[in-house]
Amino acid sequence: MARRTLVAALAALGLAAGAALAADPALPAGPASPAGQALLARQAHFREQAAGFKAINDELKKDAPDKAVIAANATKIKGTAADLPTWFPKGSGPETGLKTAAKAEIWTDAEGFDKAAAQLQAETVKLEQLAMVGDLDAIKTQARAVGAACGACHAKYRAAAS
Ligand code: HEC
Repeated sequence: MARRTLVAALAALGLAAGAALAADPALPAGPASPAGQALLARQAHFREQAAGFKAINDELKKDAPDKAVIAANATKIKGTAADLPTWFPKGSGPETGLKTAAKAEIWTDAEGFDKAAAQLQAETVKLEQLAMVGDLDAIKTQARAVGAACGACHAKYRAAAS
């Protein structure tokens, strides 16, 4: 009997602990939650990607662009573009309670979002190939195609400055 009481008491404790976990709003959301961490990492990755793309465009504006800088950054943004689809785990949107421009359509229209990501991947692969060849006119044209791929996704899946 005593043992049974102990088991019941432990079960009750377990339930109480479970209820406390579910009631704590800091656990499913917030900057320390896995989803919050994913959101913050994603935004940092995007800033890195943007820095790489800017470095390319800054070179292209110069009279004598440094092709090695262009090629290195083309490789960098090809890499971030390949990783991009992994930056959006389910639950890492506004439900984290953090500031985000990620629209719900990223998850409700996952197919469209994946296409937009694939478009950027294809354009950055081409940019890297052209950067290796070194024809500046071709690189410039392709840099615009990359920019268009960024913009196409932002237009559909990123909220205007929030
Ligand atoms: C497949 C969709 C997609 C593509 C392609 C894309 N982005 Fe984004 N980008 C987003 C989304 C969604 C956000 C909002 C993320 C958030 O706030 O959680 C974002 C945010 C950003 C941010 C803001 C980061 C911050 O500080 O919060 C920058 C800068 C950025 N993108 C640059 C770029 C550049 C440059 C490219 C192209 C080389 C690009 N993005 C391509 C979807 C995309």
